[in-house]
Amino acid sequence: MKPETQINRRREEFPTLASGIHLLSHSLGPVPRATRESMLAYYEAWEQHTGEDAWANSWWEMSAQVGDRIAQILGGDPGSVQVQPNASIALFSVLSCFDFTSSKRNKIVASALDFPSMQYILDAQTPVGARVEMVPSDDGIVIPTERILDAIDQQTALVAISHVSFRSSYRVEVEAIVERARQHGALVLLDVYQSAGAVELKARDWEVDFLIGGTIKWLCGGPACGYLYVRPDLQNQLQPRLTGWVAHGAPFDFASPPMRYDHSVRRFAQGTPGIPALYSVLPGLKMIEEVGVPTVRAESVRRTEFMIDFALERGWKVNSPRDVNQRGGSVMIYVEDGPAMVKRLAERKVFVDCRPGVGLRMSSHFFNTDEEVREAMEILAELMDK
Ligand SMILES: Cc1ncc(COP(=O)(O)O)c(C=O)c1O
Repeated sequence: MKPETQINRRREEFPTLASGIHLLSHSLGPVPRATRESMLAYYEAWEQHTGEDAWANSWWEMSAQVGDRIAQILGGDPGSVQVQPNASIALFSVLSCFDFTSSKRNKIVASALDFPSMQYILDAQTPVGARVEMVPSDDGIVIPTERILDAIDQQTALVAISHVSFRSSYRVEVEAIVERARQHGALVLLDVYQSAGAVELKARDWEVDFLIGGTIKWLCGGPACGYLYVRPDLQNQLQPRLTGWVAHGAPFDFASPPMRYDHSVRRFAQGTPGIPALYSVLPGLKMIEEVGVPTVRAESVRRTEFMIDFALERGWKVNSPRDVNQRGGSVMIYVEDGPAMVKRLAERKVFVDCRPGVGLRMSSHFFNTDEEVREAMEILAELMDK
């Protein structure tokens, strides 16, 4: 491995790191110590709230504030992100803006490497007139860009695809996809759950229409804080049918229908925001902002190269792209019995997970040391030989 960079890894700020080698940032990251205080602050705010002004004074604003901080990490402008209960709902919110039944433009282009939840939700649009074209992968690791581009045509309403695959860590070429979609009048949604906080994102520069994701992985946040980015100049053209009172222009008027959507990104909200989830993400977001995604990425490139070289030298099968420009922050290594190997590694205090057909999923974040990554690979080598 190239020499370790001197960065503040803030290891003492993550109590869980004392338990062993944590390589699970693609799944659930370790909790920042400061989250304890943040959750207590939530309780205290609740205890002190004695009237409806609680909402107006702080909690109501909090969704927008957290949304703006996530927007910055996504490379978007303030006012471009609405927090959501999870990424699945964020996707459904976007799909509910389309009328697939009455339109000839009813095709959705997705990929075989996307997260199953996304595939289920797209599939659920077929009874309401959508046609889903799932672009296949020959090896379960990558999909040639040309193949994705060829699937985008004049009937395509939406390209909805993972930026980085949960399965192989394959990263698609965003610029080429957005360009082709524009040529054919289609919109583009990227699932950035596996890239936000691990890879630099450029929502504004890419001119992508939607990004969806959540905070529990690379952003070091707690569960139930998903997010939806909508290109600012597109927002007011859309009216999500998955809606609720919080999306109304004057929610506290409690007016009868018809719905009058707010003119901000709040028009993509539904009901009461998940306030505890918002408190749970603040310390993690702060840390990622302070460390900076370019630093996280530089560290990750070094580690993933080391892990891949280590695996290939021993003749193991690597189920992630070799090319760093096609890769996110994880490395997938094939093992015959994934769950058994995960268990044996955990006994040696190395924490990873596995997925069917893929093998182990291993991810280092900025808080991991080179020494830890090397040790984890050496322990894996010992167990592979047994
Ligand atoms: C790429 C990707 N998309 C979506 C999800 C699911 O998100 P949610 O549970 O917030 O709907 C995951 C979860 O692992 C994921 O890895």
